[in-house]
Parts: sequence; structure tokens; C-alpha cells
Amino acid sequence: MNLTLKIWRQKNATTKGKLQTYPISDVSPDMSFLEMLDVLNEELIEKGEEPVVFDHDCREGICGTCSLQINGEPHGPDRAITTCQLHMRMFKDGDTITIEPFRAAAFPVIKDLMVNRDSFERIQQAGGYVSVNTSGNTQDANSIPVQKNNADDAFDAATCIGCGACVAACKNASAMLFTAAKVSQFALLPQGKVEATRRVLAMVEQMDKEGFGNCTNTGACEIECPKGISLDNIARMNREYLSASMK
Ligand code: SF4
Ligand code: FES
Repeated sequence: MNLTLKIWRQKNATTKGKLQTYPISDVSPDMSFLEMLDVLNEELIEKGEEPVVFDHDCREGICGTCSLQINGEPHGPDRAITTCQLHMRMFKDGDTITIEPFRAAAFPVIKDLMVNRDSFERIQQAGGYVSVNTSGNTQDANSIPVQKNNADDAFDAATCIGCGACVAACKNASAMLFTAAKVSQFALLPQGKVEATRRVLAMVEQMDKEGFGNCTNTGACEIECPKGISLDNIARMNREYLSASMK
């Protein structure tokens, strides 16, 4: 396939960026999207030009670092996958593909297609954990019975990989789906109940401090989420938040 790539180039966080056009030829439909960018970068390096900076690590849909806005969609046109799992067979010969970084005030661009998602880490640090007594008297987790449906829902929430596609998809750049997944994975389990009140208040407060927008129930986040995190988690977080605020 021969393609035209329009790629966001930006030197650093403070300079203005712009879309730059790069033709690329002989792209195999079996290549992953990131492999296609690797080929482009090799060509750029050979020509003495600066390669395009983009985030990636596991390349198997687990780590959540790949974060590209492809033709206006986070992680591109396929569903329930990350950018590293996107294949070039989703495009046609002659296509023009626009590649931009995830856009949100709370995700400032570091360089080209790489954004800083430390704001997610700070939300997680505010309460996304369970404190455990490590004195040697720690209770075996398996000795606490958990209802099957709660265990399943907690597991589903825990599959959030913190990629930020929900924020990039949202017209308000809201981080509600991410935060709700992180709150839900503990709220549904007895182990998470002890710190539940403090957790939801602290995580929501941090989310607001980071400058993410509010949720207006549009649902774009759920559609673009590579892990199928459900909007039900946002409803659960809202209930948790309301009852915590009244305590
Ligand atoms: S909720 Fe989905 S889209 Fe949002 S950070 Fe988690 S995995 Fe990514
Ligand atoms: S590189 Fe790890 S999820 Fe894509």
C-alpha cells in the first residue's frame, strides 16, 4: 500500500506544532501501525532527518503507553484495541492518515506524538490502592469470600490500562471513565471497603485539580476504550462519591 501520512510534529512542550506530510510506500497490510511508523522513522534517519517521537512499550495491548489519535479517533478506526494492536489492513491503498497526539490540557505534549500522562499517576496515587498490614499477620486474600458477580465486575474494572483514550475521545477531556474504573475495582471488593470513603473523595479531588473536564454522559469514552470499560463504572463512582460526601 502507498499512503500519505500527516503527522503532528512539535519540538517540545513550549513550541507550536504543526502537521507535516510524509509519503510512505510498500506498506504491508500485515504490519502493525507502530511497525509502519518504525519504517517511516528508519527512512527519516537515513535521510538525516529527525525521527517521529511516539510512545510505546509492550506492543501487545497491556501497558497503555501507545497513545495516538488516528484520523480523529484514539487508537484508530478499529474497536477494543490499542494503537499497537491496530493493523494496516484497516486502511486502503492511497489513503491519507492523520496522526496526532492525544489532546487534553491535562496531557501536555512532550514532543511530536508523545504526551505527559503523569496526571493519571497522581490520581492513582491519591487513593488507587489498598493498604495492607505487612507485619506478618496479613490475612490470606482467599479467606475473604467475594460474590461472583462482584469479583467479575471488579476484574473488568481492573483491566483499565490507563492509556487515556477515554480523555482524548471526550469533548470535555474528562477522566471520569479512568477514575471510575480505578475506584470501582476496589469499591466492589471487601478489601477495598476500609478506605472507600477517603479513596473516592481524594481521587475525584485530584482528578478535578488536574484540569480534566466533567462528564456529560456522551459515552464516546466507552466506545473508544480499548478494554471495554463500561459507563456503569461512572454511575458507581458517582454513587460512591455521593454517599462518601454525606458521611
Ligand atoms: S478507561 Fe479505557 S480508555 Fe480510559 S484509560 Fe482505562 S483503558 Fe484507557
Ligand atoms: S505499546 Fe503497550 S499497549 Fe500499546
